[in-house]
Amino acid sequence: MELMRLGVVGAGFVAKFHARALMQVSCMEIAGITSQGAARAEQLSAMVRQNGFGEGVIYPSIADMANHVDAIAIYTPNLARVETMEQIVDAKKRGAALKGVICEKPLGRNVEEAQRMVDLAREAELKTAYFENQIFMKPIRAQLAQLEPQQRAMGPLVLTRSAEEHGGPHEAWFWDPTKQGGGVLSDMGCHSIAVGWYTLTPLGKSPTFLQPISVSADCALLKWGLPQWREKLLRDFGVDYTRTPAEDFTTGIITYRNPDTGQIAKAQFTNSWMFEKQGLRLFMDGMGPGYAFEINTLNSPLQVFIGDVCAEETANAETALEKATASRGLLAVQYNEPDLYGYPDENEDASKAFLEGKDAFLPWSYGLEITKLVMAAYMSAQQRRTVDLTNSAVQRELETFVPLIQQGRGAEVLHTT
Ligand SMILES: NC(=O)c1ccc[n+]([C@@H]2O[C@H](COP(=O)([O-])OP(=O)(O)OC[C@H]3O[C@@H](n4cnc5c(N)ncnc54)[C@H](O)[C@@H]3O)[C@@H](O)[C@H]2O)c1
Repeated sequence: MELMRLGVVGAGFVAKFHARALMQVSCMEIAGITSQGAARAEQLSAMVRQNGFGEGVIYPSIADMANHVDAIAIYTPNLARVETMEQIVDAKKRGAALKGVICEKPLGRNVEEAQRMVDLAREAELKTAYFENQIFMKPIRAQLAQLEPQQRAMGPLVLTRSAEEHGGPHEAWFWDPTKQGGGVLSDMGCHSIAVGWYTLTPLGKSPTFLQPISVSADCALLKWGLPQWREKLLRDFGVDYTRTPAEDFTTGIITYRNPDTGQIAKAQFTNSWMFEKQGLRLFMDGMGPGYAFEINTLNSPLQVFIGDVCAEETANAETALEKATASRGLLAVQYNEPDLYGYPDENEDASKAFLEGKDAFLPWSYGLEITKLVMAAYMSAQQRRTVDLTNSAVQRELETFVPLIQQGRGAEVLHTT
């Protein structure tokens, strides 16, 4: 089988998660790594070599790496998206034989940035993959397959609810709305909005078939705006939510219209960084006429119990669950988290598509549509109204809209005590 030799930019949390996923993918290997911070690049390189899925050679720059790989994956923080892509395009123009480029969510912090990413890829004639892992989750794909006869007989789903929640991110830049793009809506709302849209999509139609017609959303700072939690944030990450707060909770409804039948369907999303349970939870459910599904990733067939006397031995609870918050008591263990969340399948899809000279199932133009919906949700929360996406003036406004929270002016719209 032909192998896709991948070069990754950024060697942090998500790069490692993808590396774990690649142990389960036969058509892709990590040939190169370039990142700020030598220690993490060394760790990733050792992991790649020890597990035999590539050479994991560390390069000083994108320009140096680009001549030794077939495709490049952007796993850098959101603030570095555009500059990373500009360097990739530059390397391609100088002769690197790159086939494609992968970008982790979000494609940009706002529509202007996401559009710039799409334009840069087009200009350099690079095939694209937007990584939204939840659309590749096996439970999502399995419920679609299982309920296919019901959907054919009764019609598609009309309501879905999607949530991704945990206790808060692992690095300072995520908490800083000017660097990340906002709070939890920018960080995790993009997942729930995408999976909701996909879940409602009738069988066999493209992920953008349903037309988004309106967005109504709310953002709030509930836990991390309280004095003792603001102080913890300042102490741990140097981020001051008195001056530049971001939302730790968001919820909203997006209404879609089926262009063939006129049928209306609704997707609700809920995301928080103030989830006080064992660790990350993805929750999705959906209602069709006469049928339904439900997914809860905290339900695992494996549970372990750790009593107080031996709790000290469990220093690294994150081996059990992403963003784990407890290391004793009855704990849910997800023994194959990369697979549960869809990482191997999105990597396999991208490598097969690039090897065939095609865009992946979710190209960057799709990532741009998700960014538009996220920005429409911020606009709705900020302006306290339902945003009408069928209005061309609103569409124009979205092209340059930068939420106050992203501008570092969250104190004007979020309540802190
Ligand atoms: N799909 C998911 O569920 C998921 C989960 C986590 C993160 N992500 C996304 O992945 C991206 C990275 O997140 P992360 O959690 O790995 O962050 P991280 O902070 O853990 O890692 C970022 C890495 O990039 C390096 N870096 C920073 N600036 C750089 C630059 N200009 N050039 C090269 N390297 C640079 C850092 O040294 C670090 O190794 C983000 O866009 C995030 O939204 C997606």
